[in-house]
Amino acid sequence: MTNQPNHTCLPRSRRRMRLLRRGLFLLLALLLALQGCIQPDSVDEPPDTGDDTGKTFLYQTMQYEYTTDVSAWLQYIVTGMDPQYLILANKTNPLNANDIPETVRLTCATNPYNQRDETLNSCAANALYAMLAEMAADGVTDIFVTSSYRSYDRQQSLFYGYIDEEMSKNPALTREQAEQLVLTYSARPGTSEHQTGLCVDFGTNAEYSEAGEVLTEYFEETAAFRWLIENCYRFGFILRYPEDKVGVTGYTYEPWHYRFVGREAATEIMLRGLCLEEFLNELN
Ligand code: DAL
Ligand code: ZN
Repeated sequence: MTNQPNHTCLPRSRRRMRLLRRGLFLLLALLLALQGCIQPDSVDEPPDTGDDTGKTFLYQTMQYEYTTDVSAWLQYIVTGMDPQYLILANKTNPLNANDIPETVRLTCATNPYNQRDETLNSCAANALYAMLAEMAADGVTDIFVTSSYRSYDRQQSLFYGYIDEEMSKNPALTREQAEQLVLTYSARPGTSEHQTGLCVDFGTNAEYSEAGEVLTEYFEETAAFRWLIENCYRFGFILRYPEDKVGVTGYTYEPWHYRFVGREAATEIMLRGLCLEEFLNELN
């Protein structure tokens, strides 16, 4: 006869406690085993594109907050620095005359003074709608799109039209001089970012009443501009031709022209005071 406890002879309440403890232990072990397999389900998690290049980015540490519910739009705003939204079209990186991007017709407010249909890349268009909804929620409703995708041919007629205009305003100019002047504010056909279908020019009624036209410096005085300059990056847009980057972009300041690049690149460009050319140089 030993004094070993006989399990089968334990009182019923102690047996129940022991079973309960074993159950809890097994449950805990199961949870720990599963922990390694379960990934957090986060809609707003930006794709981590910095690690493989060894670079770190500001956007990776950002907390983005929105007034409106943007969950349905995040798939368009957060692009993971997809190269298709980082296309560079400028004086030294021309497009071909037959580069025609796929675009969709914009359903937001467009210039009421010219009644033209505007079209844009569909991802950029959706990010734009989200941005306009947020602007409206913040009380800014006087804004419309006055130019978006432009074909090579349309840019050609604009560019040569501006040369004629400059020459008739100032008959002393040679054609060559007029062309050099126009090149400071309008792109030679094939070099306009508008041919990518990734950018928009905005106007407002206040600007139209005040200046008699849109695409004027008066845009800078509008509530729309003040909102855009602070918030456009949260929707993947950048101010493409800033006042202090004329030497890099080759164009005079355009407070109305916004380019879609996706939220990651837009965060770097806008919050670090870069222009697209500078950002792409850093990236490559
Ligand atoms: N105004 C811009 C530079 C363009 O013509 O594309
Ligand atoms: Zn423009």
